[in-house]
Amino acid sequence: MIFVTGGAGFIGANFILDWLAGSDEPVLNIDRLTYAGNLENLASVERDPRYRFEKLDVCERDAVLALMRELRPRALIHFAAESHVDRSILGPGEFVRTNVDGTFSLLEAARAYWSGLEGAERQAFRFLHVSTDEVYGSLEPDEPGFSETTPYRPNSPYSASKAASDHLVRAWHHTYGLPTLTTNCSNNYGPCQFPEKLIPLIIANALAGRPLPIYGDGLNVRDWLYVGDHCAAIRRVLEAGRPGEVYNVGGNNEMPNIEVVRTVCRLLDTMRPDPAGPRERLIGYVADRPGHDRRYAIDARKIAGELGWRPAETFETGIGKTVRWYLDHQDWVARVQSGAYREWIARNYEAR
Ligand code: NAD
Ligand code: DAU
Repeated sequence: MIFVTGGAGFIGANFILDWLAGSDEPVLNIDRLTYAGNLENLASVERDPRYRFEKLDVCERDAVLALMRELRPRALIHFAAESHVDRSILGPGEFVRTNVDGTFSLLEAARAYWSGLEGAERQAFRFLHVSTDEVYGSLEPDEPGFSETTPYRPNSPYSASKAASDHLVRAWHHTYGLPTLTTNCSNNYGPCQFPEKLIPLIIANALAGRPLPIYGDGLNVRDWLYVGDHCAAIRRVLEAGRPGEVYNVGGNNEMPNIEVVRTVCRLLDTMRPDPAGPRERLIGYVADRPGHDRRYAIDARKIAGELGWRPAETFETGIGKTVRWYLDHQDWVARVQSGAYREWIARNYEAR
């Protein structure tokens, strides 16, 4: 069995669905169900005997440890986090609690559990920490992509909290020998992403005829990776990564935000034309994100060379699948755009 934290969120849910499609090994999903946790993402496996859900905060160390001792997982894959940069700017406390304290609690639970294991079970155990490229800070246009040895320079409360969690994971390996693995990945996109993040927000707004807000000059660059490729990278690191190591994961798809938005508009116009005219008419520039990182790029040579992982999707194929999914799941979008969602969107854009 494996444990997954944050499995009701965007990447965690995609990971569980992909896992159960390719393996008989059971999964326990530990999730507190914040605004970003949505069990509807996992409806297709709800009754699968290989799947179990525990509504639990990762900060509840004793409860997590009790589950570990009962179910004896061979790995814990830690996705649970507060993940949205704009939310971290308006309210950083929850980011420190979940991302820093939560990771600390899980490390302590895992250490206690792992210390009690023996022989092959002890050898096999892994704590895989899912992290972000944002810990490395921002790149100038001509700088090479982030590698595993790039110094940490987090700039937002979100990235600082993730950087702190990465350091805890590193220390638990170095000091206690806990067999950890860390992945630092670039921007994901794909099905089930909460419509506060750029791509699903743009799709949802464009379909509803609402403005498409571009922060600053729209020339900030991100490296986009289809979520299924990220899940495959995590499976590969779990299978063959060396304990104590860090693996950077990226899509080799650097693109300025305005280009991403224009691509989404053009795809929507082709797949579902708007009688009012091309969706690019909805694009509007709004105040920049404070401390907005200019550019992220990943050097993924280590995971490619050591573990043979490469993304299967190009941006063209991945974004096509993604736009199709949102067109086919407009009821999903409508359901997650609850009162709480509307409050957040109003607060974020009022602050600009
Ligand atoms: P998400 O916000 O969609 O989901 C987070 C999940 O964690 C939700 O289900 C939420 O309910 C759960 N959660 C939050 N606090 C919790 C707590 N205290 N206890 C238990 N569960 C809790 O996030 P995501 O985009 O799926 O990101 C998953 C992980 O991947 C995060 O660690 C994030 O830092 C990392 N990451 C994300 C991206 C990206 O582009 N989205 C890229 C690289 C790394
Ligand atoms: O790089 C990995 C990170 O990618 C993950 O660790 C984070 O969890 C994830 O949220 C994402 O962070 P970003 O801040 O890059 O993603 P976001 O979708 O919020 O924004 C992408 C870019 O688009 C960024 O430059 C800000 C810009 N943007 C975003 C929104 C929501 C806009 O121009 N308008 C918007 O309305």
